Amino acid sequence: MSGRRRAGRLAVIAGLALFGAAACGYPGADVPYVQTPHEVVAEMLRLAGVGRDDVVYDLGSGDGRLVIAAARDFGARGAGIEIDPKLVALSTESARRAGVADRVTFREGDLFQMDLSPATVVTLYLSPELNLRLRPKFLRELRPGARIVSHDYGMGDWAPARTLRMEVRGRVSYIHFWVVPARP
Ligand SMILES: C[S@@+](CC[C@H](N)C(=O)[O-])C[C@H]1O[C@@H](n2cnc3c(N)ncnc32)[C@H](O)[C@@H]1O
Repeated sequence: MSGRRRAGRLAVIAGLALFGAAACGYPGADVPYVQTPHEVVAEMLRLAGVGRDDVVYDLGSGDGRLVIAAARDFGARGAGIEIDPKLVALSTESARRAGVADRVTFREGDLFQMDLSPATVVTLYLSPELNLRLRPKFLRELRPGARIVSHDYGMGDWAPARTLRMEVRGRVSYIHFWVVPARP
């Protein structure tokens, strides 16, 4: 086989391996890595009314885009938790490049273990099942008045206060918004 054909075949195998890894997700991940488009990120943060006094937590933070945008474009502080250490390293580097490294942190770990009590805003792009499993944690740990925004997925019979539909390059996204109620 010529060197060029061998290189081509290796590139195809590497591409398939990468595609497979992305489709299956990192080992132990509850959902695979799929990015929220930047336009949807901005709309999620606007819908939550994020500002300088907010602390924004993204659960399953991927490449860090939600937390970085919250700090860079809305003046907030924030934190992301992500199971894939490569994405945590990428997020930390992107935060440095965006000039917000002093206001955001990214941690490797399981989102179910994160203490949510410092957050005033939580952002999500997970799945309907995970959102539902997180609901008791939100009601237990988040302060009344804290806001939750989820890309695409709802939270069972907890009806969102608002839902927006947007279309970016032919892909339809829904953004759902809740406010944590006062404790009974
Ligand atoms: C659909 S992606 C969303 C990424 C980012 N939040 C965004 O909107 O662009 C979900 C992310 O959650 C991570 N993840 C899945 N299960 C997790 C878990 N149990 N703890 C922490 N991160 C997890 C995945 O590795 C993936 O990066």
